[in-house]
Parts: sequence; C-alpha cells; structure tokens
Amino acid sequence: MSSSRWPVSEHALFTPVSLAPANEYSDDELPAAFTPSSAQLARTLMNPTPALKRLLGSACAGWCALTLGAQAPAESRENRGAAADAHPGNGPIDAIHAHVCGFHFYSGDPTRALRAEHYCSHLATGVLQCVIYDSPARNARLIGIEYIISEALFVALPEEEKKLWHSHRYEVMSGLLVAPDLTDKAEKALMQDLVSTYGKCWDFWQVDRGDKLPLGRPQLMMGFTADGQADPTMVASRDRELAIDSEKLKAARADIPTRPIAAGADGGEKTAAIHIKDALLARTAPTASDRISSYAPVASGEPFAGVQPRMTQAKPALMASHLNFLAARYDLANRPADGVVMSRGKPVQQGARARLAPGVTWERLAALTPDEIRTRDVFPAGFRPLPHPNHAEGGMLFPHFVIAEIQRQEQRDLARFDLDFDLPDHFLPEFPAAIYLTTRADLGDVSQGQVVTLDNYFALFNGLLNPKQLEGLRLLLTPFPQQQFNATDDRRSARPSRGVACFDCHANGHTNAATHLAGDARPQAFRHRIDTPTLRGVNVQQLFGSQRALKSVEDFTEFEQRAAYFDGDPVIAVKKGVNVLDRGSQVHAMAEMQALFDFPPAPKLNVLGRLDPKKATVPEQRGQDLFFGKAQCASCHVPPYYTDNSMHDLQTGRFYAPRLVRGAMTTADGPIKTFPLRGIKDSPPYLHDGRLLTLADTIEFFNLILETHLSVEEKTDLEAFLRVL
Ligand code: HEC
Ligand code: HEC
Repeated sequence: MSSSRWPVSEHALFTPVSLAPANEYSDDELPAAFTPSSAQLARTLMNPTPALKRLLGSACAGWCALTLGAQAPAESRENRGAAADAHPGNGPIDAIHAHVCGFHFYSGDPTRALRAEHYCSHLATGVLQCVIYDSPARNARLIGIEYIISEALFVALPEEEKKLWHSHRYEVMSGLLVAPDLTDKAEKALMQDLVSTYGKCWDFWQVDRGDKLPLGRPQLMMGFTADGQADPTMVASRDRELAIDSEKLKAARADIPTRPIAAGADGGEKTAAIHIKDALLARTAPTASDRISSYAPVASGEPFAGVQPRMTQAKPALMASHLNFLAARYDLANRPADGVVMSRGKPVQQGARARLAPGVTWERLAALTPDEIRTRDVFPAGFRPLPHPNHAEGGMLFPHFVIAEIQRQEQRDLARFDLDFDLPDHFLPEFPAAIYLTTRADLGDVSQGQVVTLDNYFALFNGLLNPKQLEGLRLLLTPFPQQQFNATDDRRSARPSRGVACFDCHANGHTNAATHLAGDARPQAFRHRIDTPTLRGVNVQQLFGSQRALKSVEDFTEFEQRAAYFDGDPVIAVKKGVNVLDRGSQVHAMAEMQALFDFPPAPKLNVLGRLDPKKATVPEQRGQDLFFGKAQCASCHVPPYYTDNSMHDLQTGRFYAPRLVRGAMTTADGPIKTFPLRGIKDSPPYLHDGRLLTLADTIEFFNLILETHLSVEEKTDLEAFLRVL
C-alpha cells in the first residue's frame, strides 16, 4: 500500500450538522459498506490535487481505476444492498480515507515516544478507527491501533475508562499532528475536526527499543499535552522528512476554535498526561465493579460540584449530535395536514416522516420480503427503536413548554442541566390538552384551556368531582422525589428539587410526550425509550405499561414511586425519598380519578365504534373497509376502543440486524400492548418509544409489518379513517 491511497478527505469528520446532507442516513445507521469514503474518494480522485496527480500516475493507478469504475457515488448508494453483499476490494481497508502523522509516548514514560502514522476510517458519527504504522513506507511495521471519538462520546464514558484516552487539543494546536497528503486548506479543516476529539491508542510493537517482533503486552500510549514534552530532535527529523514546519503549522492553526479539555482525559491528570495507575492497566479480567450489574451505585464517587459542570459542559455537543441523528432519520419539517386538528385545535402533521434509503420508495420497500429488507439493510432507520437523547444516562425528560408552565405556576423547575427534550414541538400532543370526564360527557372539554396543577385544580374541579376524586387528583398533582429530581446531590436539576407529579407527564390526564426509559429490561442498552401514554381510556383497558402488562391502574399508580419511577430500582427510590402510598385510600382515589379521563368525542362513530354512514366521507368509509379488511388492523385494534387488551409481538426484528445506536441496542421489540386507537390523532408521536412521528408513518410501518401491500390511495383512505377515530 502506498501513501497515495489516503490523500483524500476534505470531509468534516466530526462536524455534526454539515456532514450528512439532510436526506441521507446518519452514519450511525449506515451499513458498513457505505461509509462516505468511497463516494468521497471517487469525488476527490476525479478532481485531484497536484500532489495527488503525481501519485495517481504511479502506485495507485490500478486501484483508483477500480474505485472510479465500480462506484460512481449516486449509483453506489442505490445499490447499497448488492454492494454490501459483494464486499469488493479490501473491505474495511478501502474505507481508510485519512492519513495523519503524530507522536505518542508510553503511558508513564514520556521520555519514550514513537512516531505514529495513522491511517483512519470513519466508522460512525464521532468514531474513527486508525491503524498505526511506524512510517508511511510500503514496508512499514504495523505497530498499533487508535480509536478516536468525539467529545460527546468521550464525556459519556465511565470515569475509569476516560483515563485511558488522550486529548488531541495540544497535538493539533502545536502542529505536532499533520496530514501530509492534504492541501493546506483540507489539512486545517481536518485538524479543526480533530481538535476536540479523544483517542485511545495501544502499541503492540516497541520498535523504539529495537524489538524485531511485537513482544510483550500491549502498551497504552498517550498524547503530548504541553510544550516541552516532545523531544525537539524527534520532531525536527520528522519535519525534515515530510518537508513541513510544525512551528509554521502551529501559527497557521492559532485561530482554530478550541474547547476546554474534558475532565478525566489524559490519565485523569489536569497537567501533563503521564501516570496511568498500574493497577488499572494490570487488570486483565473485568473486576466486580466492571461487570454489568442490575444495580446502580448508591453513593456516587463524584461530588455534585463535579458532576454538574461536567455534564453541563458536555450537553451542547451531546444534544447537537443527537439532533443531527434525528434529522438524518426523519424529515422534521413542520408540515401540518390541511384542516386536520387535535381536540383543541393543534394541527396534525402530514405525511410519513421516516427517511428512506436513497433510491428506495415506500412501494419498492413494501414489495420486498422482510428477509430482503434485512439483508439489504433498507428498513427505514426511523422505524427502528428510538434511543433516548442520552441512552446510557436515561431518565425523565420534559419538553421545554412543560418546564416553562410548571415553573410559571408552581415555581418548580423540571429542567435538567445535562439534557434537553429532543423532538420538535409540532410532533407533540397539544398543550394544554383537553379533558373529557366519563362522568360529565355533557360538558365536553373541562380544561378551560389550562394546565391543571396543584395551584388551580381546586378552582377548576370543586363542584365537578366528588371529594374522593378531588383527593385523587390532588395526589396526582403532588410532586414526589425520584431519580433525576430530588433533594440529594444525586440529581439532574440545578437546585434540589421537590420532585415530579404524575401529571408532569400525564398532563391534564393525557400526555405531553415527556420521555423516559422503561424500567423492565437490563442492561441499560436494552431498555426501551418510552413515550408517556395518555391516561384517556384507562377505564376500558386491562394491561398497563407497554411491556410489563401490569394488571391494574392501582398497581401502576403504586409501583411508580416504589421503584424510582421507571428505573425498577427500589434501592434508589429509598435513597432519594420514596413516598409509599396507602393502597386503600390514596392509591384507590388516584386510580378512580384516572378512570374518569375519557377519550375525546368522535362524532362520526356510532355506538359500536363504526362510522355512521350518514356522517362519514367516502374516503373515510373506504378507509374503514380497509381497516377491517385488507389492511388487517382490526385483528388487533378491535372496536369500539380499537384495542384487544392484549400484547403482540410485531416481530420487528425480522427487518433489521441488531445494532448499537447511540448507546441503545436496537433489536427486536418483543411483545407490546395494543394501544387503543380511539382519539389517536391527539397523541403523537406513536409506538411505545415515539419512534413514529405521524399517523402516515404508522400506516407505512404496519404495511411492512403485516406485508399487506397497500396502494398509495389505500394508505390515504386508511389515514382518513384513523383521523376520525
Ligand atoms: C416521567 C413521566 C411520568 C410520570 C411522572 C408518571 N408517568 Fe405514568 N407513564 C409514563 C410512561 C412513559 C408510561 C409508559 C410505561 C411503559 O411503557 O412501561 C406510563 C404509564 C402509565 C400508566 C399505564 C398506561 C397505559 O396505557 O399502559 C399509568 C396508569 C400511569 N402511567 C399512571 C401514572 C401515575 C399514577 C403516576 C404518578 C404516580 C405516573 N404515571 C407518573 C410516564 C410518566
Ligand atoms: C398484530 C396486532 C396488530 C395489528 C394487526 C395492527 N396493530 Fe397497530 N399496534 C399493535 C401493537 C402491539 C402496537 C404497539 C406497538 C409498539 O408500541 O411498539 C400498535 C400500535 C399502533 C399505533 C400507535 C398507537 C400509539 O398510541 O402509539 C397505531 C396508530 C396503530 N397501531 C395503527 C395500526 C394500523 C393502522 C394497523 C393496520 C394497518 C395496525 N395498527 C395493525 C398491534 C397491531
């Protein structure tokens, strides 16, 4: 391999938003054979720099022809399935598209340093993997590997793990790190991407001590972090060989924006990165504390004064990369459907929003078998499980408008310093939601356009509810401490918190789309993100919770507190201040109150929950026929409430290989409860985790799940029917 193979990338490796054109997949979800490099490589090779032209003339001619001939960019993306099967060329080696040269030193001994020629490929958003040679020559020795990750990924690592990673800020700013094959402009852009990244490097071959073979244990390598550490003669000789001047590069890079080095990197030392405790490296097998455990630590090792600034600092990068991930999965534009609104007038969004792989249409996709969809890896990314904005951390997250309203009415702060809610407002239920009482159907919406809180509930409901129900409502509105919002220093609110109320999520007995992780699965990556379900219609249901299938509203009401809400952890609940409710009085009153929340009126449905032909339009009636016929929806969604009160395994795992996406293991969902479809247009986003943004998405989803081959017109009719339920 000659160095002519890597002289490419103008490609912003880590810039979250600019990287992927809006209509492309996030790299996280790109099949391995479709890293951006091949397309990019082809582009650069068609338009080579002078240096590259020289090289093209010689060593790489055959390989380049192969690249250009085989993969025009557009075509390569359309045929992603076929190409993935064939694995042409050198597989992952061909994905290598950046060559950077720098120096590493042995952890614990900065006097022993090695020159490192990195050849890197882009694996996923924020992840590079590099092979390291001791020179750029053809007969170079493969001495090590380095993984490079973005700051957002780094800050989420466990503290012990962070010590193994080194920062790149000094290496970039000092001119020690160079990309000799790139134009000045491209090199600077690459350095800009690398400056806030972190690397973990292992050396297998101690060439500096003259080893003829890779002997001994792998050595952890570190990066220089300050002037005076790197041996000037070593740097000067490298500079001479490459005909560069690292001092000049340093001056030229002075205006690259930098960020503070994240806490914990470079061996955990603030200053020179040298000492990794031997004990850490000596561990060959995981210790008890490394093993995956069902238990969260009761006393956290890190004080609040450390956690809060660390996580606050990490938040912008983390949210930016998550929003970029969402934008790659979904078309997030605000496109309301003409004349279709929720109960109090908020527009319903139009059209399926999950993005399709390039060249794929809904019709072509539905023509494939689940096996073919899986093999070609074309199941829309937006139909796979949706990760929490920080899946490893999890916990309850509230939309900004909820935070603002609770703050305004109760001066209680539901903001988290480490994370924000992620989906745009136009895909969420209306706020405040309407309230329909089963006991007073005559009144219609009794919310008076207000968000019910402890502040106003009595004024709104005295004279409308009986005393027991009023007491139930009071308790549903009373905050109790839990995982993220409590008065201990193990919390995610800036100030000690009084806690959360049931209706902070089930606002007005409905949902405000607050999100969380379900408590039932372990390890953490396997926990489902969960979108708050509405409480409308719990009176006619028999199973509660998407997976757990608790058998009564009373059970659900009682267990929430006892197990730290959705964390399934009584230990932590006790630590943070559990409030055990009395079953006979408090739980009963709360459950009775919940049972009063009715579905919104559906004026076009008759007593049996079917369309009244005198009121329904022709498309709605055709939609109903499909629902009960070809589309097979009624097998599970049985009128009048459009649920069968059961659980079904939709076997989503037929369509995609398991994959770790942003800390979430996207794998088969397993059995989930059939949510009722009455009033369904009022409660986007859809499915237990909120992965489907619109009703049109749910129709495309079930068209694949059930292999029903609906036509475009049939889908439109079916949607018309869902909108009147
Ligand atoms: C952080 C937001 C949040 C809070 C606070 C909250 N819930 Fe929930 N609730 C949810 C989510 C999310 C689910 C879905 C759980 C699942 O899928 O396992 C749920 C499910 C339920 C269900 C079952 C609904 C169904 O259709 O299956 C009931 C009943 C319920 N909650 C009542 C309560 C009560 C009572 C409280 C207060 C004691 C409460 N919730 C507090 C978010 C919340
Ligand atoms: C095999 C049973 C089954 C069939 C058939 C079925 N569904 Fe469902 N449906 C479910 C289950 C189970 C869920 C919950 C899945 C989840 O949350 O992951 C669900 C969820 C939904 C939701 C989202 C509900 C919510 O509150 O988020 C909609 C909308 C929906 N189905 C519509 C349809 C339509 C339209 C059809 C026919 C094209 C259909 N379903 C066919 C079982 C079924």
